[in-house]
Amino acid sequence: MTRILFLCLGNICRSPAAEAALRAQAPQLEIDSAGTSDWHIGDPPYGPMVAAGEARGYDLTPLRARQLTPADFDTFDLILCMDASNLERAEALRPKGGKAMLQLYLDYAPQTGLTDLPDPYYTRDFEQAFDLIEAATAGLLAQLAEQ
Ligand code: 4NP
Repeated sequence: MTRILFLCLGNICRSPAAEAALRAQAPQLEIDSAGTSDWHIGDPPYGPMVAAGEARGYDLTPLRARQLTPADFDTFDLILCMDASNLERAEALRPKGGKAMLQLYLDYAPQTGLTDLPDPYYTRDFEQAFDLIEAATAGLLAQLAEQ
């Protein structure tokens, strides 16, 4: 079974949205999310992201932000990063022997032509964020189904 951690900067917009979207499709998977920063530890997801998720049938309300830890590299098989800076920071935190594989989430949605998921905290485009997350979720599920 694949244990998956979604990673973004604040853990209040993109990664909790991805966590909720994948959980809705694959409740049997072990899924969590975290941020590279300590800015929002303990905070609920960002209100407009929660509202955009609710409109698509995803419940973000139980989630609380936390920061990535070295232990996550043993707890999870896959750390799916929302952008290249998340991936760089995570790689810098990898402990010796930490085995988790790091990937960009949008690698699972090559048809989008994007590699970084634009941060809706800044773009204010919460629909675009969910469109991209849903595309990557579908690609990930297709790949997991092949394993
Ligand atoms: P996220 O978005 O990394 O998708 O959770 C952000 C949320 C908050 C901030 C930055 C990015 N912030 O500066 O507080």
